[in-house]
Amino acid sequence: MKSLEKIFINGGTPLRGQVEIAGAKNAVLALLAGTILTRDCCRIDNIPFISDVTVMLNILRELGADVRRINKHCVEINTRHFNSGEVPYELTKHCRASYYLLGALFGRFGHARVAMPGGCDFGVRPIDQHIRGFEALGAAVSFEQNAIISMQSNQPQGTSIYLDIVSVGATINIMLAAVRARGVTVLENAAKEPHVVDLANFLNSCGADIRGAGTDVIKIHGVKELHGCEYATIPDQIEAGTYMAAIAASGGQALVTQVIPKHMECISAKLIECGVQVKEFDDSILVAANEPLRRCNIKTMPHPGFPTDMQPQFGALLTRAEGTSVLNEGIFDNRFRYMDQLVRMGAKVTVDGKIAVVEGVQELHGAQVKAYDLRAGAAMIIAGLSAHGETEVENIEFIDRGYEDIVGKLAAMGADIRRKIVKTDAEMRNVA
Ligand code: EPZ
Repeated sequence: MKSLEKIFINGGTPLRGQVEIAGAKNAVLALLAGTILTRDCCRIDNIPFISDVTVMLNILRELGADVRRINKHCVEINTRHFNSGEVPYELTKHCRASYYLLGALFGRFGHARVAMPGGCDFGVRPIDQHIRGFEALGAAVSFEQNAIISMQSNQPQGTSIYLDIVSVGATINIMLAAVRARGVTVLENAAKEPHVVDLANFLNSCGADIRGAGTDVIKIHGVKELHGCEYATIPDQIEAGTYMAAIAASGGQALVTQVIPKHMECISAKLIECGVQVKEFDDSILVAANEPLRRCNIKTMPHPGFPTDMQPQFGALLTRAEGTSVLNEGIFDNRFRYMDQLVRMGAKVTVDGKIAVVEGVQELHGAQVKAYDLRAGAAMIIAGLSAHGETEVENIEFIDRGYEDIVGKLAAMGADIRRKIVKTDAEMRNVA
C-alpha cells in the first residue's frame, strides 16, 4: 500500500522568477496509443513525467510493446510484437485515456476488446460518440461481461461521420481507428483542441494522410502501413494556464516558459479581463498581477473557447476578485464539487447545476481540503497560495496524474509549499 502524502501551503508569498512547462498530458496519452498503429519504433520526446503517462506506458508494456525510457521526458516504443488480446479492467481502471486503445487496436488489427476505463469523476462521461464512429467504420460493437467493449470487423472501411457532440475523445479515437482504414473518412463537428492537432501531426509523421485537424472537418485518407518516427509533443496548455492562474492568485510576477502562446489565447484574454498583465514572447508568457483582481464571467466551451480543464483554477482565482463572477460549465455535468472545499477556506460561492456564482472576498484562510480530481486539486493549491495561514491538501495522487513536480516548480518561484508523508505504508497497512 502506498504511503499517504499531503501537500502543505503557507499562503501570501507572491510568485517570482520563472516556470518551465512540460509536454501536454492529453496529447501524449493519444500519441502513446497511436504507436500501436505501426510495427516500427517511435521515439517521443517532451513527455511529462506524470502518473497517467506511466500508467499508459505500463499498459503498452503489458500488451507486449517494447518500451524504453531514454530519460524522464523521452521514450522509445516498439509495438511490433503487440498482442491484440483483451485489455482488462485491471489495466484500464487507472487511466480514462486507455479507451484510446479501442481505436488503435481496431485500426491496426480490425478488432479490439478493451475494458471500460475509470478516470476523473465529474458527471456521466458516456462514449456513445466513440461507438457511433467505430460502427460507421464497420465495427460490430458489443458490451460484454466485466465492461469489456468488443469490436470486430474485417478491416475498418472509410466513411462519413458527423459527431452529435464536439468530443475530444471521440475525435481522437475515430482518428486512430480510421488512419489505416480502406478509403477516406470524413469526420465532421470534430474537436479542435491542440492535442487533436498534435496527434494528427504525429500520425502524419508516421506516414498517415490526415488533413484538416484543428478545424471541425478532418479528412483521413486511409494508408496500408505506417512507419516509425521521432516526435516531440506540444507543451501542455492546461499546465501553463494553471501556473498563470497561480501567479495571478499570488499577486506575483513570473515568466511561464516553453509554451505556445497561440494555445493560451483564451486563458490570457480572461486574465487580462481580470486586470492581470500578460505579455507574450515567442515561446513564453510574462504574467504580472500588480493590481487587485477584477471579477469576470467564464463559460467553458470546446477549443478555441475557454477550456473546461481551466475552470476549477479560475474558480479558485476568482474567490479573491473584487465583485461577483459567474462561471458556466458548458462541457461537464458536475464539475463544481471542488467549490465546497473553497467554501471551507472562506470563499463565498453558490452552485446551481452548471452555474457557480462566486462573490469575491477580502481573504481566504488556510484549511484542510481534498483534491476531488486533477484540476480541482490544482485549484486547491491556487487557493492555498493566496490564503492566510496553512492549507493542507489531501488526495494529491490526483494532482500527480497531470502535473509534473508541481510542488518543486512552485517552491522554485518562492511559494512556501511542501509535500509530506503523513502516514508511512507500514502505518497505512496497520490502519488497513
Ligand atoms: C478530454 O476528455 C480530456 N481528457 C479532458 O481532460 C477534458 O476535460 C475534455 O477532453 C474536454 O476538453 C483527455 O484528453 C484524456 P470529451 P474527454 O469527449 O475526451 C460528452 C483533464 O483534466 N460526450 O471532449 O472524455 C462528455 O460527456 C481531463 O486533463 C458524450 O456525450 O472529453 C462531455 O460532456 C479531464 N459522448 C463532452 O462530450 C461521447 O461519446 C466533452 O467530452 C463523448 C463525450
